Amino acid sequence: VEQTYIMVKPDGVQRGLVGEIISRFEKKGFKLTGLKLFRCPKELAEEHYKELQSKPFFPKLINYITSGPVVCMAWEGVGVVASARKLIGATNPLQAEPGTIRGDLAVQTGRNVVHGSDSPENGKREIGLWFKEGEICEWIPVQEPWVIE
Ligand code: GTP
Ligand code: MG
Repeated sequence: VEQTYIMVKPDGVQRGLVGEIISRFEKKGFKLTGLKLFRCPKELAEEHYKELQSKPFFPKLINYITSGPVVCMAWEGVGVVASARKLIGATNPLQAEPGTIRGDLAVQTGRNVVHGSDSPENGKREIGLWFKEGEICEWIPVQEPWVIE
């Protein structure tokens, strides 16, 4: 089954949006398998966003992600990677559709409240990066047969 790494960024935590954001993935029918509040070290932020290293905004991005605690989440489900990206909306919140997390809750790319993995491979890679062994919990929600036929 597919897995994705979702993270409430420091602005989402500071603005009290953690419950709202978790709720959207829960209601969709995905399964939460990892969850923690975490103060991200600079080295981890740089590793996570290493594909963006050469971008002019990279130092600002690292400052942003390390500026306060984040909420790290692993979510599992059929098509969860692409679906989570749809629920999150476009990178620039002003271009994100209403009904999406960024479209409803944010206004700037540099304060776009949430991260979601962009491929199943990166989902695995990022969950490995942000969670230790034993922090991921396998379980079967009672509602599962009512979500997946
Ligand atoms: P993530 O889910 O966080 O990976 O966002 P994304 O996949 O929609 O966008 P991308 O991976 O291209 O960029 C990662 C993050 O870098 C964005 O979510 C923004 O927080 C930040 N970012 C991207 N482009 C810009 C930019 O032009 N200016 C600033 N300040 N930040 C940017
Ligand atoms: Mg990205």
